[in-house]
Amino acid sequence: MQTCQILGSGHAVPHRILTNADLEQMVDTNDEWIVERSGIRQRHIAEPGSSLSDLAADAVNQALESAQTAAQDIDLIIVGTVSADMKFPAMACLLQEKIGADKAAAFDISAACSGFLYGLHLAKSLMQTCAYQRVLVVAAEMLSSMINWEDRNTCVLFGDGAGAVVLGPSTDERGILSTTIHSDGRHSDLLYNPAGSQLVLSAEDLKNNVATIHMQGREVFRHAVSSMTRALNEALEQAGLSAADLDFVIPHQANIRIIEAIAKRFKVPTEKIIINVDRFGNTSAASIPIALDEAIRNGTIKKGDVVGFTTFGAGLTWAASVIRI
Ligand code: ACO
Repeated sequence: MQTCQILGSGHAVPHRILTNADLEQMVDTNDEWIVERSGIRQRHIAEPGSSLSDLAADAVNQALESAQTAAQDIDLIIVGTVSADMKFPAMACLLQEKIGADKAAAFDISAACSGFLYGLHLAKSLMQTCAYQRVLVVAAEMLSSMINWEDRNTCVLFGDGAGAVVLGPSTDERGILSTTIHSDGRHSDLLYNPAGSQLVLSAEDLKNNVATIHMQGREVFRHAVSSMTRALNEALEQAGLSAADLDFVIPHQANIRIIEAIAKRFKVPTEKIIINVDRFGNTSAASIPIALDEAIRNGTIKKGDVVGFTTFGAGLTWAASVIRI
């Protein structure tokens, strides 16, 4: 059966940077608390009302260029997002129009921070069963549009951004060696935004920031470490590899303490863990492709390196993958 490989990648973030010092002016918090508890020093935040599909298009155009692929040759676009421009049509369709990928089928998937690895899993399966030749997997989030800027528990954690990869059939030993996805809806109350068809927003709700991110941080943290560990173990087993075979690990960039806990469990030295949560915060689904593209562009990750990915998000959802880049 056809296996697939990453042909190119790209990422984009909004220009505006919000530092911990800026947040100190907005809520009762301080740089020391944020850095110690999360590792985050700054995050990129989009101007209110700007278009996430524009940001995604920037990431995609870079990915197409590095893959030396024309948009007209893309036959499938999968976008992982929970903060699309509109409720419908799918952001994948808006993106399709912006990049001129006229021949593609396009749809979104909702798996929160796991959106990119869910997208890879789906892309790999569809390339195997439907023989797609060029697939875009994109993850883009503008969680700033649903943050309660008066809630210090959540507003310090998230940032905006987009990342993308172009996939094509493997021509050598490089490729997606394994992917695994999981979910457990029994814990949907740990991290959610209630805005949707069941919520009839009153003026009071609007004033009280009801339609924003709600999170039980400590519980989320606990689930994150155990699920991300289990998923990466499973992906390694599927690939017939062990943690010692990994050249790098790219964990979801939610919190430095979650990342360190994962590194410890896999006995992976710090220099093999790709970390950028300090500069971007938690960009949800976009965090992994942003980290991957940065590491490829700055020469840290090279062709042939074996990279383990693991993530966790609202749903709950979790996922992992092992890829020879
Ligand atoms: N500044 C200062 N103090 C704060 C802040 C803040 N920004 N936020 C909370 N506090 C206070 C709390 O009110 C609490 O005070 P209290 O003891 O007087 O009640 C104290 O700090 C400790 O709060 P905890 O929530 O227990 O702190 P914890 O050590 O658990 O850290 C954090 C909080 C950073 C949110 C952590 O639990 C975490 O990272 N959880 C995972 C969150 C996450 O990764 N979410 C996203 C994953 S999935 C996805 O990406 C969508």
